[in-house]
Amino acid sequence: MREIVTKLWPEIQWIEGPKLREQVIQTWIKALERSPLKAEDLTKIPFTLLVPNCPVTFMEHKRCVVHIARQSAEAMQQFMGRALPIDMDTVIAGAILADVGKLLEYELGPDGKSRQSERGEALRHPFTGVALALECGVPDEICHIIAAHAAEGDLVKRTTEAFIVHHSDFMAFLPFKNPKNVRLR
Ligand SMILES: [Fe+2]
Repeated sequence: MREIVTKLWPEIQWIEGPKLREQVIQTWIKALERSPLKAEDLTKIPFTLLVPNCPVTFMEHKRCVVHIARQSAEAMQQFMGRALPIDMDTVIAGAILADVGKLLEYELGPDGKSRQSERGEALRHPFTGVALALECGVPDEICHIIAAHAAEGDLVKRTTEAFIVHHSDFMAFLPFKNPKNVRLR
């Protein structure tokens, strides 16, 4: 399972702290163990159920968000780091874990397509993601990013790292909501 996770997520190697790196791997292992989805499903299912016929997969979207978050954090550090300290490991780990709860939110329907499960309707992925991460010892500042990355987090006072992950996620999502922007396969 460990190799499956590190193959799915080459970006885990960007996390410098060995303890945090291990906690992130363990959280993804736990999610895959408990999920009706398999790792290979993540490279096939659309990243969102909110865009009809979405042509981008879960893993393409998630990895894109991690790359946007890291590069945004680097630009902010370069020009504003003096006034706005940013912890890069927190940004990267938070971005990698933001949607881990989707493994407990989705299921595959009889048509083979992903859909929200009954549990997912009761507990969207920010909630199940935090539960999984806490079980694996992930620090609170990273659970904060998971908790606040989506619309639920609009009521939360976000840290700088949480703002970065939130906006990176929405940058890679909102353009798809205008059908004119999207090239279907
Ligand atoms: Fe999300």
